[in-house]
Amino acid sequence: MSQSAYLRCPSGNKKLKYNAVVDRNCYTRYRTIMLKNDLFLRAAKGEKTERPPVWLMRQAGRILPQYRALRASLSGFKELVETPELACEVTIQPVDELGVDAAIIFSDILVIPEAMGLPYEMIPGKGPFFPTTIKSAHDIEQLLSGQEAADTLQYVYDALRLTKQELNGRVPLIGFAGAPFTILCYMLEGQGSKTFSKAKKLLYQDPALAHKLLQKITDTTIAYLQTQVAAGADLIQVFDSWAGVLTADSFRTFALPYMQQIAASIEQVPVTLFAKGAWHSLPQIAAANANVVGLGWLQNPTEVRKLLGDKQVLQGNLDPCALYADAATVRSMTTTMLDKFGPHHIANLGHGVYPDTPLDSVKVFVDTVKQYRY
Ligand code: CP3
Repeated sequence: MSQSAYLRCPSGNKKLKYNAVVDRNCYTRYRTIMLKNDLFLRAAKGEKTERPPVWLMRQAGRILPQYRALRASLSGFKELVETPELACEVTIQPVDELGVDAAIIFSDILVIPEAMGLPYEMIPGKGPFFPTTIKSAHDIEQLLSGQEAADTLQYVYDALRLTKQELNGRVPLIGFAGAPFTILCYMLEGQGSKTFSKAKKLLYQDPALAHKLLQKITDTTIAYLQTQVAAGADLIQVFDSWAGVLTADSFRTFALPYMQQIAASIEQVPVTLFAKGAWHSLPQIAAANANVVGLGWLQNPTEVRKLLGDKQVLQGNLDPCALYADAATVRSMTTTMLDKFGPHHIANLGHGVYPDTPLDSVKVFVDTVKQYRY
């Protein structure tokens, strides 16, 4: 992706600088809030930094007592997600408590199936559940898509705008969405699964129909993420959490082309592509318009560096379970990881932080990265 971005407008292409905010009518205004800590964005754009920036996937959530207290006072998860003031509060909690270098907007990847016509429920102790799933070509026909579907997610854009204002430039704000394959998994299965075999069945039995559904999800996700950028997101991360259930061929046929379309459509801010478990296709992911390639914990940073070179920006990848170790071990494992990656790295875990991770351990991880120097 080019560093100076172009926006395709009906009136001709517009050249944009990073930090330009553009609405759907191609009206450009510039962000007035200057970032006080732009380490994360500088690293994402491939610039040299004095140390790696650090944040954690799923940092806004159950590891924080402040989150648990607020969550317990509400009707449920969806109230938190759908109330911009609350989503904003929870987004900023890890910035205050952990001192991370980026905030990620509090929301969920499942708002996209809901916007397309399949509402989700979040069942305490069990996870997501969809009372209605996709069962036929007709069901796919019926789904809303594109801007029309994305327009139903105003509460996310309001939360981004409010959070951007409340952060007041302390750190950049990450917007996100699920990758089309991961969203397809939930739309067909209706809940989590170890194998996602019901979802994979469609890829083998009716690939043309699978592509039709994937394209509808992609069109919606593009409209959704572009509106997130217009609302203030400084970087976009695409989570393909279940990519690891696909063979290399299936991944390159049913997952990667759609991630590529999404990344190519986001031109004003950097994009991170995180396809967990797609260790077989890292060069292809890097080539799919990704500024940053996210790595799960199974990948060895030294080997990935050999494959992708020293200049590719990488994100990850400490095993989330490493944070169950004592403080000295967490410190040494974090330092070893940072040494292996070298510069052009954003420190993170290899997947979301587990809810029962000791908060002190998370702080040791963050502080170790912040004390590190290249
Ligand atoms: O801090 C952050 O990263 C921002 C918030 C965020 C949530 N979900 C909040 C959440 C983000 C980025 C997500 C993404 C998400 N949601 C993914 C992709 C990332 C990944 O971990 O692979 C996926 C697969 C989901 C779907 C989802 N949402 C599941 C499977 C679950 C239940 C399991 C679990 O982790 O609890 C959720 C619920 C959810 N999303 C919670 C939070 C804080 C827990 C809900 C609660 O408060 O009880």
